[in-house]
Amino acid sequence: MRLEDSLQKIKIIDFGSQFTQLIARKIREIGIYCEIISHNKINKNYKLERNVKGLILSGGPLNVYQSNKIKFNKNILFANIPVLGICFGHQIISKEMGGKVKQSKSREFGLAKVIKINNSILTKNFFSNNINNVWMSHADEVIKLPKNFKVIAKTNNSKLCIIENSKDKLYGIQFHPEVTHTNRGKIILKNFVFDICKIKKNWSPKDQKAKLIKEVRNKVGNSKVICALSGGVDSSVVAKLLSNGIGKNLTCIFVNTGLLRKDEENQVVITFKKKFKINLIYVNAEKQFLSKLKNISDPEKKRKIIGNLFIKIFEKYAKKIKNVRFLAQGTLYPDLIESKSVTGSQTSKIKSHHNVGGLPKKMNLKLLEPLKYLFKDEVRKLGLELNLNKDIISRHPFPGPGLAIRMPGTITKEKIKILKEADYYFIKALKDNNLYHKIWQAYAALLPVKTVGVMGDNRTYEYLCLLRAITSEDGMTADFFEFKKSFMQFVSNQIINNIRGINRVVYDITSKPPSTIELE
Ligand code: XMP
Repeated sequence: MRLEDSLQKIKIIDFGSQFTQLIARKIREIGIYCEIISHNKINKNYKLERNVKGLILSGGPLNVYQSNKIKFNKNILFANIPVLGICFGHQIISKEMGGKVKQSKSREFGLAKVIKINNSILTKNFFSNNINNVWMSHADEVIKLPKNFKVIAKTNNSKLCIIENSKDKLYGIQFHPEVTHTNRGKIILKNFVFDICKIKKNWSPKDQKAKLIKEVRNKVGNSKVICALSGGVDSSVVAKLLSNGIGKNLTCIFVNTGLLRKDEENQVVITFKKKFKINLIYVNAEKQFLSKLKNISDPEKKRKIIGNLFIKIFEKYAKKIKNVRFLAQGTLYPDLIESKSVTGSQTSKIKSHHNVGGLPKKMNLKLLEPLKYLFKDEVRKLGLELNLNKDIISRHPFPGPGLAIRMPGTITKEKIKILKEADYYFIKALKDNNLYHKIWQAYAALLPVKTVGVMGDNRTYEYLCLLRAITSEDGMTADFFEFKKSFMQFVSNQIINNIRGINRVVYDITSKPPSTIELE
């Protein structure tokens, strides 16, 4: 029997929310095993497994009255299993149980104050002085309470914000407890799984490691695997996971795209080949990448070109190794969710992450992406379980397309050289000032504008360097980091004094959303 068949679990029914995997990740973090299923798959013949002890209905872009798009069989709500509906999930429970949902007069996006009306097990320890800050993202609202339900809390724009039918264990909340901007949101999820569903802790990073190794072994068998190693956290964890799981059947390929950070190629070869003794092929493809990217400025085109070329190179090297059937890469969940829908439900595409959207339609190798349902911090915990050293695990994320997407506009050798230096001075200053580990991700970018400056009594006309430093928990949402003026002054001086080609430095003060972490 599979481990996950024996564990009590929460099933998350996905209606296409950008946050569905965040719900899953929070449930895992609480220490409970969970699985996601698209609402499309809940048809008339669908049977819940006996070890499902609670259901969570996600948010989503649909409207509850779009019956042609909602395939979900409502009988599942009467299975005598506790149900928690979030946002759209709250609306669907309300509608199916006899309430009414309507387009809100005023939509609610972002922070809202939720006010307690009644006690509930679901909201135990959630409110402070009967009030709490929560994060909303909805255009419809529940306007009529279903029969046998009571109101637990309201906001100014949403009178039926938390509702419950405690007898049948049906709960609905309009806001998103899974996002970090909802204060104490995790308490709601904990109350649901422990006090309402009555599941005991059964999941940890160690279990995660064992499950992933087992899955990899089952999938790969005796075939050989090549792994796209970039030296970043994700691909390093994949490489170590695979090396634990399939040993010598793994070969890592490291491609120098010419778009890496300063000295990165040397560091990767030293760490993986010399220190970890992993079978590593180093490919210098700098010329190929730069020639394909010549005169390309469209961000999506850049991503697709880089993704395609990566795969071509891997396929070429894979052919040199006998019996290679799989290409492993360190795709994480946020890479997937922003590129396409994972469960088959309807979500909106934000950008093609290079290792997902850039893949050619016809590929000779099968993809192996063991981390594709995990978030960055979960991957870091897994890395520690795999005994990877802290230097690698705590590195800031670096995207596959590298400096190409930190250089809006066309890519030239001259710009790359300038940008590598700027990034080096910024990151060095962060490390020297003990700021590196307080920041989730930081980098320098080169903007495609030149501005006028004055240096040594002479006019200059040079590039604009943008610095970005953000705090985040999982890369899905982020806020800019607040530096002291003295630090910013220091970094600006370091960059301008040491690098020819930049005469102005600016700091990006946008959060995600509305911006993304990378520029393209
Ligand atoms: P965005 O810019 O979408 O980035 O807010 C979220 C996180 O993902 C990283 N990122 C990528 N990682 N391939 C990757 O492996 C990609 O194509 C890619 N694009 C963005 C980004 O650096 C941030 O950590």
